[in-house]
Amino acid sequence: MKKICVIGSLNMDLVVNVDEMPKKGQTLIGSKFREIPGGKGGNQAVAASRLGGDVCMIGKVGNDGFGESLLKQLKADKINTDYVQVEEGPSGVALITVDQNAENSIVVSPGANFKLTKDDIDKCIDGIKESNTVVIQLETPIDTIKYALEKSKELGKFTILNPAPAVMLSDDIIKNVDLLTPNETELEILSGISIKDEDDIKKAANIMMEKGVKQLIVTLGSKGSLYLDKDNMKFIKSYKVEAIDTTAAGDTYTGALSVAFSQNKSVEETMDFASKAGALSVTKVGAQTSIPNLYDIDNYKF
Ligand code: RIB
Repeated sequence: MKKICVIGSLNMDLVVNVDEMPKKGQTLIGSKFREIPGGKGGNQAVAASRLGGDVCMIGKVGNDGFGESLLKQLKADKINTDYVQVEEGPSGVALITVDQNAENSIVVSPGANFKLTKDDIDKCIDGIKESNTVVIQLETPIDTIKYALEKSKELGKFTILNPAPAVMLSDDIIKNVDLLTPNETELEILSGISIKDEDDIKKAANIMMEKGVKQLIVTLGSKGSLYLDKDNMKFIKSYKVEAIDTTAAGDTYTGALSVAFSQNKSVEETMDFASKAGALSVTKVGAQTSIPNLYDIDNYKF
């Protein structure tokens, strides 16, 4: 089986549900408080593993209780944690509020995630060498991400960049991305094109492809997703479900894509599989608590 290496963040999510998002200066009484393993990197690794991938993770946690719990969850999900280092200091934490429309607002304190250095990538290079696909997001230092992408390409790996949370990226980062998986807002920020319709998406995608990206999958929320490469464009619809909490839906989608691509599924099959996984994740509360496995997908009546 082809292997997947996820390089990225691990956060403990501190989650409270509210009826409506608080306004500036407002104190709100929310509902039950939950601690749920998360972090975009961790979520993508868990999704890939639960959905049939052979996954290792490169990342950092702090030497605190959150770090222990985050590592424990990765191991429970059969992810190779040999390349997750424990660093003196706090783990990454995300403060999350979820409203009654299932939308969230997230503030991340990066903790150990921001201590992942280029040297750490060198130390963990075997994790990349032994994988076929490398998946990265943007919750670790940008220099480290740039270096990890360079190394992955030098080693001939297929690279997937999920550009979240969105920031401008330099061309020497973009040029090493094989598959870019932005949502519309992220694509706007990366390309500088204001997106109102499909033509704008095409223009923005062309700009990214001129910079070296080979393929894009643009997620369009409840509408679906759009695949673009130099010669093709394909739209795949999303599945309608009752949404409880959208946290980690994008991560589940990216993790699922990485597995299906590594199994050489067609673009349509890959995107359909990822749409199902992403849809199921919003029917449950939290990040890693909501990520489906293959059984869940096979047995859900979409
Ligand atoms: O994408 C969702 C994730 O973003 C959460 O799990 C949180 O930790 C933040 O990284």
